[in-house]
Amino acid sequence: MNPKSGSHRRDTHPAMGSTEMSGTGALQSAVIASDEARRALEAANAQAEYPAERLDIDAMKIAQHWDRYTAEDHEVWRTIFDKRMAQLEHSGSRVFLRGAEAIALSRDEVPRLGEVNALLTPMTGWSSHAVPGYIPARCFFAFLAKRQFPTTITVRPKSQMDYLPEPDIIHDVFGHVPLHTDPSFAEFLQIYGQAALTTDDPVHTERLARLFWFTVEFGLIHEDGRLKLYGSGLISSEGEGHHALVSPEVDRRPFDLERVCDTAFEIHHYQPILYVLDSFEQLADAMNRYAKKLLELRRVRKVAA
Ligand SMILES: [Fe+2]
Repeated sequence: MNPKSGSHRRDTHPAMGSTEMSGTGALQSAVIASDEARRALEAANAQAEYPAERLDIDAMKIAQHWDRYTAEDHEVWRTIFDKRMAQLEHSGSRVFLRGAEAIALSRDEVPRLGEVNALLTPMTGWSSHAVPGYIPARCFFAFLAKRQFPTTITVRPKSQMDYLPEPDIIHDVFGHVPLHTDPSFAEFLQIYGQAALTTDDPVHTERLARLFWFTVEFGLIHEDGRLKLYGSGLISSEGEGHHALVSPEVDRRPFDLERVCDTAFEIHHYQPILYVLDSFEQLADAMNRYAKKLLELRRVRKVAA
């Protein structure tokens, strides 16, 4: 892990197709009831190879015991919220900024998922659900396919405010959830989940992981002739967000799905290559075409078998 980076690096990112569990540190957090979390993790691990129709995502969910957040948890949330928003006001996509407002993210305290969902679900059908840490890739995709976002609810410690290798609620809710208010992004992410569940071809699994990386995690977008941040790794990281926008060392390429899927990514340092969208409609359209291709491939393979 690179201490320079402020964004989390998921070595076992669900979109990378890994089924390795590494986020068990979350089980020790006071906001998580440990027996419930253990059961949910066991359920997720047991279903790692299940076919789509047998996956039971409800068994992987846990409660958010909001009253157990400490004064330090709220302070960490407040400090990072204020620091990031001061920059994102100018450098964040308006879709992110409007989304954060629409789900009433407040600087004052760690968000309650129930309150976020009460605002989010009527907009796009998406909702966020607490899970006990990393879940296997297929389980992650099964959530997305149902417009549900598996959400980490722990808060990083004050001593690791600038860098945490694992996701926390700041990365997952502050960084990801505001975009779920946008109809095109919402459609893209659901189709992504469905497509990822459809394929068992390792080539396409890897291509889909790259697509996730260069959009959901590290995407840039053109708005009003300016480059803006929307990927959660950039939204939640001061250092990487700034680097993405201004560094002459970054190769900023126009978004092209085939090219994105052909581009390998590196995990442990700032991204040397980034892709820039013109709109989220462009992303949803490209994803729709890719998903159709994957369905066709599966149909052809079934006929051949
Ligand atoms: Fe993420």
